[in-house]
Amino acid sequence: MLAIGIQGSPLKNGSTAYLLKRCMDELKAQGARIEFIDVPRKDIKPCRGCGFCEKKGFCVINDDDMSKETYGLLREAEIVVAASPVFFYSVTAQAKALIDRTQTLWSRKYRFKLSDPLKKTRKGCFLSMGGSRGRQLFDGVDLVARYFFDAIDASFAGSLTYRDIETPEDMRNVPGLSEDIKQLVTGNLMPAENRKKVLFACRENACRSQIAGAFAQRLGGERLDVMTAGSLPAKEVDPLMIQVMAEKGFDLAFRSPRSLDQAIALHQPEIIVTMGCGEVCPHIPGAVQMDWDLPDPAGKPVEFMEKVRDEIEEKVSEFINTL
Ligand SMILES: Cc1cc2nc3c(=O)[nH]c(=O)nc-3n(C[C@H](O)[C@H](O)[C@H](O)COP(=O)(O)O)c2cc1C
Repeated sequence: MLAIGIQGSPLKNGSTAYLLKRCMDELKAQGARIEFIDVPRKDIKPCRGCGFCEKKGFCVINDDDMSKETYGLLREAEIVVAASPVFFYSVTAQAKALIDRTQTLWSRKYRFKLSDPLKKTRKGCFLSMGGSRGRQLFDGVDLVARYFFDAIDASFAGSLTYRDIETPEDMRNVPGLSEDIKQLVTGNLMPAENRKKVLFACRENACRSQIAGAFAQRLGGERLDVMTAGSLPAKEVDPLMIQVMAEKGFDLAFRSPRSLDQAIALHQPEIIVTMGCGEVCPHIPGAVQMDWDLPDPAGKPVEFMEKVRDEIEEKVSEFINTL
């Protein structure tokens, strides 16, 4: 399970970075895989407001870090921790640039009526601090964060906010900080225990395992921790697979293929479901192994892809019933 920490302060080692690191360390201690997006050190261009995403479903800016990696991370993460200091009663300009660019995900959700397979499980929380003691200090940040989480299909799972903070030292000295962090992470963010870790593997991780992973995430909810991989991963997922999953209301546009070795190292699966990865299908001692006999739909007509999709949906549904 991936948790991402979005660091929105221009200061690399300021109060925000300190608080975010403490939260992410706690998430890691509780079993999450963590990644940071240090926003001011990324090339994330501001939204142009051109309306392209509302018509096409993609951002017209396709050469910066937002398009190359951030959309993908926002889709893969089950926990999103957004952190920004208060700058003039809102988030920083850098954090806001990232947030505004999620208008693409807003468009895919509200204009194209697509939803992410992790919609029911993804949680978002925000961390913020300001130098003053203003009564409404966090009202602006709170609103921005809630609408951001809605756009990225995350349910709002709380916040930590602190007044009178100018330095990381002030942050470190907040009474009860460790308890606040523990409560947020274990009480609000971490999913139920005893989730089954499942890996779906095919050859290119472009069609079959992606479809299976999406149905497993949607139908299994918090019961499953899902990853997908391929023995010979393709450069990108199959556009026809994205199309037939969109017919079912799924948004798989920002997924990318991953190798089996990487998936096994990151995920340590308890159950491996293979579907045509050939002689290199993984064998992990202790993991339950099953093989689904499914034809490879790559390069076949749309009707074939739809048939394989429906067959996979049935198999995933049966699989979940046996757990
Ligand atoms: C441009 C700017 C605007 C700020 N606006 C506010 C504000 O509206 N209210 C407030 O209480 N603090 C404000 N601050 C103070 C910061 O929120 C505070 O110093 C915070 O601890 C900085 O976090 P950092 O170290 O992670 O950057 C502002 C600071 C800057 C540089």
